[in-house]
Parts: sequence; C-alpha cells; structure tokens
Amino acid sequence: SFKNLAPTPPMGWNSWNVFRETVDDKAVRAMADRLVSTGLRDAGYRYVTIDDGWQGKRDAAGVLHPNAKFPDMKGLVDYIHARGLKVGIYSSPGPVTCTGYIGSHGHEKQDAKTFAAWGVDLLKYDWCSASNIYGTKIEMQAQYQKMGDALAEAGRAIVYSLCQYGLYDVGSWGNRVGGHLWRTSGDSIEGDLWYAVDLRFDYDGNAAHAGPSAWNDADMMLIGIDGLTPEEYRTHYTLWTMAASPIILGNDLRTMTPAIKALVANREVIAVDQDPLGVQGRRVSQTGKTEIWTKRLADGSTAVALFNRGDAAATMTVRWQDVGLPQPKRVRDLWRGADLPTGAAYSTDIPRHGAILLRAYR
Ligand code: DGJ
Repeated sequence: SFKNLAPTPPMGWNSWNVFRETVDDKAVRAMADRLVSTGLRDAGYRYVTIDDGWQGKRDAAGVLHPNAKFPDMKGLVDYIHARGLKVGIYSSPGPVTCTGYIGSHGHEKQDAKTFAAWGVDLLKYDWCSASNIYGTKIEMQAQYQKMGDALAEAGRAIVYSLCQYGLYDVGSWGNRVGGHLWRTSGDSIEGDLWYAVDLRFDYDGNAAHAGPSAWNDADMMLIGIDGLTPEEYRTHYTLWTMAASPIILGNDLRTMTPAIKALVANREVIAVDQDPLGVQGRRVSQTGKTEIWTKRLADGSTAVALFNRGDAAATMTVRWQDVGLPQPKRVRDLWRGADLPTGAAYSTDIPRHGAILLRAYR
C-alpha cells in the first residue's frame, strides 16, 4: 500500500510562488540543477513540483497532454530523477484549475495513469473550480477520495497533497481519503507577506491528527522573496519547523543569496522539522505578542521556540520547568549552532517579528 510515503514532512521546491503560469521545462530543469549544486538536495529538499500552468489539451481518447512549454514531460521527469530528485505535478478535481487550465474532473483514473506513466512522485490536487460543482464536506471528501483511489490503482508510489485551503477541518479526514499532506489555509503569497506568516501561528490545522504521512501543510515558503526581513524569514522557517509542516521552497534558486541559502540549509533546524517522531509542535504559553512553542523529538529532547510576533523588540524568558524540562543537561541554540549555558531559565532579547529555536536535552 502507499500509505507511508511521507514518513517525514516532504521538502522540496514548487514553481508557483516565483513563476506562476510562466513555468516551463527550462526553468524546472534549472531548479533541479540548483537543488543539487547548492547542496540543498542533500540537506533534504527532494521534490521538484510543477504547479499550475503545465497543462495542454486532452486528445480524442481523453489523454491529457502538457502544453508547448513542456515539450517532453517524460524526458523532464527522467532528467529530474537522474539528479536524485523526485517530481511533483499539479491538477484539480474541478473541470479547470484556479488559472483556467484543464482539470481532472471526470478523468481521474486516466490522469492518475498518465502521471504514473511519466514517473511522477507527488500530486498536488487543488480544489479551484470544483467549488462551482460541489458545496458540501461530503462531496469534497468524495472528490479527494476519487483521486486517492485512482492514484492507488495506477500502481505508482505517488505522494498525495490536498490543496483545499484548510476547509472542513481537513486535518481530521485528509489521511482517510488517501492524502499525505493538506494545506491549512489560503495562499501565503497573496497580499502582505508578514501578515501571511503571522496568520499561520493561529491556523495550524488539526495538530492532534498530524503525524507520519499526515502533515498539516502551512503552504510554500516565502523565503528569498521580497517583502520580508531576515528576521521574518527566520521566524517563518522556525514556525513551519515547529509545526512539522512540509518545507517547500518557493524562490528562484538561481538568484538565491548566500544568506538565504544558509538559512534554508541549516541542518540542525531541518532536523527539528524532519524529526521521525512526527509530532506537531504547539504553543505552550502566550504573553501579549510573545509565544513559546514546544515540539517533542524522537531522541527524548524537546525543541523550544521563542517567538516575538510584536512590532517592538521584547525580552523573553523560558523557565525550563514551565515547559516540562526541569533541568536540561544541554541546550542548543539551533540557528546559531551554539550551546547555551544551562540553568533554571533562559532569557534573551528578541527583535520584532523574531524567533529563537532551541533544543533542550533532559
Ligand atoms: C491555489 C493554490 O493554493 C496555490 O498554491 C497554487 O497552486 C494556485 N492555486 C495555482 O493556481
């Protein structure tokens, strides 16, 4: 069975945030090359997902073909696989996608077979125009189940990514219809970017249902895209990590600065997101605009994040006994890659919209 295809949250790159409908074969190959040459593949970023905009027309037999920007989809998939990466593709349960390309409605089995024949490893399935036909939770579940069954029948291991913007408490049923991850809310790329990051402190999906192959997806990363400060990038990454969200980069890897690369390639931070226990971290305290979150990790240690969502710098203190860690033997500051002095508490100044990520060993 294909139930356990995402034992840790999927990591990779997706074309939407930077390319939208201009995505083409050349751009996707370039991103695959960059994942390898920057070392990001080896840091865990494996999926290269072609989002909306690749679709062409159906032929007389109903088989879906790519448009002129993707002259040889199988060749592109082979190219990506040859670099030790996996391939994601995109469709909709509706007749058309959000930008008007053809969807899989009525052709679910046929499209699943096509994707499997190309060698695709992940499908992002975006509700879009299905909302013009279906209006209830039960109908939505049935449509997602239909493609989930079609993927299973197609016989290839394809990770199934539900994109329905967190409607109807998807966290409580996404896994049942075959999904391995599901979005918790709308698009973060639209509008004010800090607002989009900040919003996700309060839209963490159904944390109790999260676990291996059942992830709440906080949406693609805005890191490396203009509109956020370096502190805000770090807070964004820290929150996704604590929430055990998939980490799908959305920037142009060809023009990524060394600082951005270092941020997304921090192995100690990535290890918190990718922890095999698969527990979604949660807020344990909130004082005004500051919050402390904890996430239990497989080796018995605990990740502790200190967030300052406020517009002014703040001094934050974590008293270890308050977060269930009476006397940690060792405390690591993961962004700095340094040990901190141990004691009963740790206090530090955090800039506006900033975050600190610690790992405490009991
Ligand atoms: C809406 C989704 O939420 C986005 O991530 C992206 O896939 C677009 N649709 C594409 O049209």
